[in-house]
Amino acid sequence: MTVVIDPSFDPAPSLSQTVDVTVATGIPATADAVAIAVASEGPVAEAVGFNRESLIAAGFTGSVGSTLNLPQPTGAAKVIVGIGAPDSLTPATLRDATAAFARAAGKHGHLSFDLRGLSGSGIDPAVAGQVVTEGAVLARYRYNALKSEPESAPLESLTIVVDEATNDAAVREGVARGLILSRAGSLARDLANTPPRHLNAVKMGEIATAIGAQTGLEVEVFDRQQLIDLGCGGLLGVNAGSTEEPRMVKLTYRPENGKGHLALVGKGIMYDSGGISLKPSNAMHLAMKMDMSGAAAVLASMSVLKELGASVTVTGYLMCTDNMPSGSATKLGDVLTIRGGTTVEVKNTDAEGRLVMADALVLASETKPDAIIDIATLTGACLVALGPDMAGLLGNNQGFVDQVKAAAETTDETAWQLPLDHRYRDQLKSDVADISNLGGEYAGATTAALFLNEFVDGIPWAHLDIAGTMKVDKDASWRSIGATGFGARLLAELAVGFERP
Ligand code: BES
Ligand code: MN
Ligand code: ZN
Repeated sequence: MTVVIDPSFDPAPSLSQTVDVTVATGIPATADAVAIAVASEGPVAEAVGFNRESLIAAGFTGSVGSTLNLPQPTGAAKVIVGIGAPDSLTPATLRDATAAFARAAGKHGHLSFDLRGLSGSGIDPAVAGQVVTEGAVLARYRYNALKSEPESAPLESLTIVVDEATNDAAVREGVARGLILSRAGSLARDLANTPPRHLNAVKMGEIATAIGAQTGLEVEVFDRQQLIDLGCGGLLGVNAGSTEEPRMVKLTYRPENGKGHLALVGKGIMYDSGGISLKPSNAMHLAMKMDMSGAAAVLASMSVLKELGASVTVTGYLMCTDNMPSGSATKLGDVLTIRGGTTVEVKNTDAEGRLVMADALVLASETKPDAIIDIATLTGACLVALGPDMAGLLGNNQGFVDQVKAAAETTDETAWQLPLDHRYRDQLKSDVADISNLGGEYAGATTAALFLNEFVDGIPWAHLDIAGTMKVDKDASWRSIGATGFGARLLAELAVGFERP
């Protein structure tokens, strides 16, 4: 290769950044910005120094995420943060409110959030500590790895101020959890934001090996020859046009006396050009370095299972390659043989995600886990149907789908269930092979999931289509511009709470 990439380039800079989050009963002298929560109605805390009328006159409504910077003659900046109607506060809105504060105080490195007015909100103190931490850390995330001069001030410290009556030990526990989960989210963002030449499949294998070793995972990396030996014709068929080798990474988290077994499968298309079915050169194509967001979420979530004390065995498969056109690329009409023998007619090389996922779903099924969840930036149709704020969720077992929904809710990585309706299965018929990789014009998220469903051998299975949620085009609450890291916190919470469906 003629292009030089610094071999010491670090695709996971967030892992070496720390935010010092502490809990106190008063605002520390070191704070350079202090937030005070104000509801949309009712009394205004005295510390604000203004009454409701003057806040309204200044344009502050108190809706969740609204902020007003109050200039101070000296000392720390004061920011009032809206938390919505009194008594309506939820963990998600508290996370959003903190994110709004962290952005409004974006120039400042030492923040303090005064929660003393909120002790009657009914939010569990540990949950409050967790979501406040997540909101601040994730909102201040910036991908600066390739900038000579970072354009933003890093968040250095956050003090959560609670009243004397609050169980501060519980808040601290929540803070620790929030830091762990934010680290997972930030790691997934780092990997997805990294340009494709800086993070190819081979490098992904290396980074997974390094992270796995540091976080108590067993890591096996399979190269091209090993994938041939395993019969992974889906991954190899997608890789056929590339000058770079594919990698499958298998991660295992094995707690003592594991109370069950969950398998995770992540789409790791390091760059999706569409292959011979080449994509147009537009903004969506530009975003295709993030087509490995599923694999990033699996790796990131598994990197925190030990710290979170997850008690089930978790196996993760990262299916990594780019999807490139060339003289050796898979052609339309080619037939690939997936692990296990199913033949697939490739009617569109841009429907490559399902091909690489199929091999992993078969490998996972062979180990007879209690459930399998896959996560993939799979279809533009899902983005069209649900937009950028919620992932598509499909599955063959409602009990397990409900566990995924619950984890989606707790993490505010929202998922909306779509039908796995077998009436659309006919669209995947092929004249020459067992199945085709392309459905009809409509219900694209469903036909993609129906394809995957063929490879799970009836094991309880759920599928998250994160094509829409993988990135945001501007800062929005805890989601920072660029890759969102969607799924990293969700999968970690799912594993921690997992019960055999
Ligand atoms: N990676 C894309 C899906 C995608 C689109 C992700 C937009 C994120 C944003 C996927 O590989 C793809 O190209 N899907 C095709 C499938 C079609 C050919 C059946 C699509 O959605 O157009
Ligand atoms: Mn594609
Ligand atoms: Zn893709």
